[in-house]
Amino acid sequence: MRIIRAKDYEDMSRKAANVISAVMTRKPDCVLGLATGSSPVGTYENLVRRYEKGDLDFSQVTTVNLDEYKGLDRENPQSYYYFMREHLFSKVNIDPQRTFLPDGTEPDSEKACGGYNEILHRVGRADLQLLGIGHDGHIGFNEPADTFAKETHCVNLTDMTIEANARFFSSREEVPTQAYTMGIQTIMSAATVLMVASGADKAKILREAFSGPVTPQVPASILQFHPDFILVADEAALAEIDK
Ligand code: GLP
Repeated sequence: MRIIRAKDYEDMSRKAANVISAVMTRKPDCVLGLATGSSPVGTYENLVRRYEKGDLDFSQVTTVNLDEYKGLDRENPQSYYYFMREHLFSKVNIDPQRTFLPDGTEPDSEKACGGYNEILHRVGRADLQLLGIGHDGHIGFNEPADTFAKETHCVNLTDMTIEANARFFSSREEVPTQAYTMGIQTIMSAATVLMVASGADKAKILREAFSGPVTPQVPASILQFHPDFILVADEAALAEIDK
């Protein structure tokens, strides 16, 4: 595990974009696993700026996203597809046919997850998987559990996650209670895993995940076993890991 220390959110975003840019430059037809949430927004802004300057080319890149809310369609501003279009896909020269997310409109969970697994198998392992981290240690939407889930599955979101994500919705009641998420095995199969974390509210969970034991009760802790895991975090988020 490698920790890249950043001063603040801006610095974290630039440093994370450096890592992704290096992968894209080395392998123009790379597969990028992408994440949503407020943590990677600045990283995407940096990638867009580099694209605008002519330093990055997305034309041959394939993307697979971690997760999607069950029940939200692509035009819903809270859907992760909408987020990705807003923050990245509509701003760079990526081929929309090569951008994949679980289908939140498929009510049959088995079908939705099976369909996404087929896509993930076809696309092959990610060259880089970008991640944020939830306050309970979730990655994607892999919530604390008794075992590590392998492939795409449907999850019941925890109260803590629903609460945290309510800020994006007009009321707590509107937050979906279920989501489709890539499994831990798929996340772990990426050649490189890059996590971005910022702010004092992430300090405790970073300590539990990376200074504590590996356990499915803190899903992100499994990353301690990944051969090329990079954590880019700011001082506030790293405050407790230092101890
Ligand atoms: C959501 C996403 C996660 C993300 C987490 C943290 O639950 N499914 O992928 O890591 O939120 O979000 P934030 O970066 O806004 O703290």
